[in-house]
Amino acid sequence: MTSKIKTFQDPSEILWDESFKEQIAQDSYNTAPVECIVRSVSHFLRARFKSQEKFKNLKFLEVGCGAGANLIWLAEKGILPSGVDISKTALSLCRKNFQKKFLYNKLGDLKHSPATALPFDAATFDGVIESCVFQHLNQDDRTKAHKEVVRVMKPGGVFIGHMLSVNHSTYKTNRGYFEEIEPGTLVLESKIVSGKINLESIGLSHFFSKSEYHTLLEGCSIIDPCEITYQLPSEEAARRGYKSYYQAMWNVYAVK
Ligand SMILES: C[S@@+](CC[C@H](N)C(=O)[O-])C[C@H]1O[C@@H](n2cnc3c(N)ncnc32)[C@H](O)[C@@H]1O
Repeated sequence: MTSKIKTFQDPSEILWDESFKEQIAQDSYNTAPVECIVRSVSHFLRARFKSQEKFKNLKFLEVGCGAGANLIWLAEKGILPSGVDISKTALSLCRKNFQKKFLYNKLGDLKHSPATALPFDAATFDGVIESCVFQHLNQDDRTKAHKEVVRVMKPGGVFIGHMLSVNHSTYKTNRGYFEEIEPGTLVLESKIVSGKINLESIGLSHFFSKSEYHTLLEGCSIIDPCEITYQLPSEEAARRGYKSYYQAMWNVYAVK
């Protein structure tokens, strides 16, 4: 393997906007709620509430909501979902997806905002979710984004995050080949695999270690990162150029 060090540019609004335009053109944006978000939000709801009737008083926020698959799932459960995203194209796609499902009147606030400065008052939300967003932020912005999450959570509220782990095949294979700009952070080459955009490669990719969360989520009384490892079927691993491929992700469950 020859070295492929390249100059790093911060992942920007333009980068994500372009990615969404491509994803729309290829009809490849995410339309399914993220499994571990569904599972963990369901655990939270079962533990706290006896009846679904109570969900309608709950407000959740998704940071980096993209096309809105997770927000739609929340709305279908009767929870009032709000979202922020850095890409205006993603936000307009999210609105359209709510309209298609006849759920537009069940959508809370949808705002164009970076994760590092959430446009909401402190203690607004019963729950905050995040899936594959914070892993694209540099160390400074990761710290700010997690602080913002804790700030907008109500006391007793939950944060559920889904992020790359250091045990992920992409990190283990590419470490030493691509530039590691901070411990655990690689700048992977953006690539299209078999005609599909590889979202891991947008801007930087941070692979979290378990010990990071206690500092990042200061202010939470429970901080419980669970690692989920999923071995991809060999055909899918091969499509990505791997012999075997382990998708190792943190499913972070934290209560303020
Ligand atoms: C991999 S997509 C995930 C979308 C959605 N969470 C899902 O699971 O379907 C990452 C999303 O985060 C958004 N994003 C990236 N950086 C962001 C930032 N700094 N602040 C807010 N949103 C950001 C992108 O525009 C994109 O919609």
